[in-house]
Amino acid sequence: MTTIRQFRWPDYDAVVAVWAAAGREPVPRAELNPELFLVAESDEQIVAVVMGTYDGRRGWILRLAVHPAHRRQGLATRLVGELEQRFTALGCPRVNLLVMPDNTDGLSFWQALGYIPYPDVLCSKPLQTT
Ligand SMILES: CC(C)(COP(=O)(O)OP(=O)(O)OC[C@H]1O[C@@H](n2cnc3c(N)ncnc32)[C@H](O)[C@@H]1OP(=O)(O)O)[C@@H](O)C(=O)NCCC(=O)NCCS
Repeated sequence: MTTIRQFRWPDYDAVVAVWAAAGREPVPRAELNPELFLVAESDEQIVAVVMGTYDGRRGWILRLAVHPAHRRQGLATRLVGELEQRFTALGCPRVNLLVMPDNTDGLSFWQALGYIPYPDVLCSKPLQTT
């Protein structure tokens, strides 16, 4: 049985391993907020992960990844569903996310869940923090 639950700090290394197996960059510990950070656990193994953030206006979904051996079993759907419930409980009216242009499988997944591509262009600038 696979359980969806909130991230706990001892999960960190296993979460990084799932991100690596799915070709995703890790998020440093200092940038993590466990409240909207969910994992799927099967036989005491972390097999999928998703992060959310909420800035008071929009929710954002980041770093969704399912280990390749556990795909097409509905795990990402369950993780995102649980995250959407948590956003709703916070009063969040809309959720956004970014999909890389070449990630056609990822886009198919999001569209299957009702997420609609917008034509907005992402603008980004690095800031000097030291
Ligand atoms: C995209 C990803 C998260 C999907 O996880 P998953 O647990 O396999 O997804 P689900 O089983 O919940 O799929 C739900 C539906 O999404 C669609 N879908 C999922 N993966 C798909 C794929 N590779 N190609 C086309 N459609 C897909 C299907 O409609 C699927 O329903 P079905 O299995 O009944 O046909 C997973 O493939 C993954 O980790 N990919 C690498 C990382 C990534 O791309 N993350 C998203 C970045 S924005």
